[in-house]
Amino acid sequence: MMTITARHVIAPLLLALSGLAVAASDAGNLGALRGHMALEQDPAPARIEDPLKDQGIQDREYIHQPPLIPHQVRDYEVDLKVNQCLSCHGWKNAASRNAPRVSPTHYENRDGLTLSDISPRRYFCQQCHVPQTGAAPLVENTFTPVESLR
Ligand code: HEC
Ligand code: HEC
Repeated sequence: MMTITARHVIAPLLLALSGLAVAASDAGNLGALRGHMALEQDPAPARIEDPLKDQGIQDREYIHQPPLIPHQVRDYEVDLKVNQCLSCHGWKNAASRNAPRVSPTHYENRDGLTLSDISPRRYFCQQCHVPQTGAAPLVENTFTPVESLR
């Protein structure tokens, strides 16, 4: 049977504490979009890079990735009454607009039942689909897709 010595208690404790120290010192280096400005101050409005136009369908990096939006979305209205994305991507209009239609998952509710219209949880398209800009990434990323998608 193992006896609990001071070492068993102190070593994990020290580890946990050093973890805290690292977290605290890293926090000072994290650059948010608003820089290091106090919350009550208004930063100069950040200039958002222009979105890239008409890049054509983009490769996906993993199987369940929401595909990237390859076109501009400026002024496309999505609110309670209107969803302009669906005017091209909904099943009713996609063929005539020559646009890819949303997949059947967009008609499924959270219980897996297929609805006759877009599921509320897939209504706000830009929760998951994003247009691209030419901006440099804020955080370095070394993700590579699985072999079969490369
Ligand atoms: C005027 C029609 C039109 C509207 C409105 C529109 N799109 Fe598109 N969208 C297209 C077409 C056409 C393509 C295919 C682009 C190509 O083949 O180069 C496309 C491609 C896409 C793709 C890529 C699909 C894939 O399989 O890679 C996504 C995601 C997308 N659109 C999302 C949106 C979202 C979100 C909105 C609303 C903010 C929207 N679109 C509004 C016409 C439209
Ligand atoms: C909760 C996240 C989410 C939301 C919200 C969402 N999508 Fe998707 N979308 C996905 C994912 C994930 C995929 C790829 C897997 C799949 O089809 O489910 C996808 C796939 C697509 C595709 C490609 C379909 C295909 O067969 O290749 C289009 C086009 C698309 N979405 C458009 C839209 C539009 C337009 C809206 C808004 C009406 C929307 N999506 C809302 C996550 C989302």
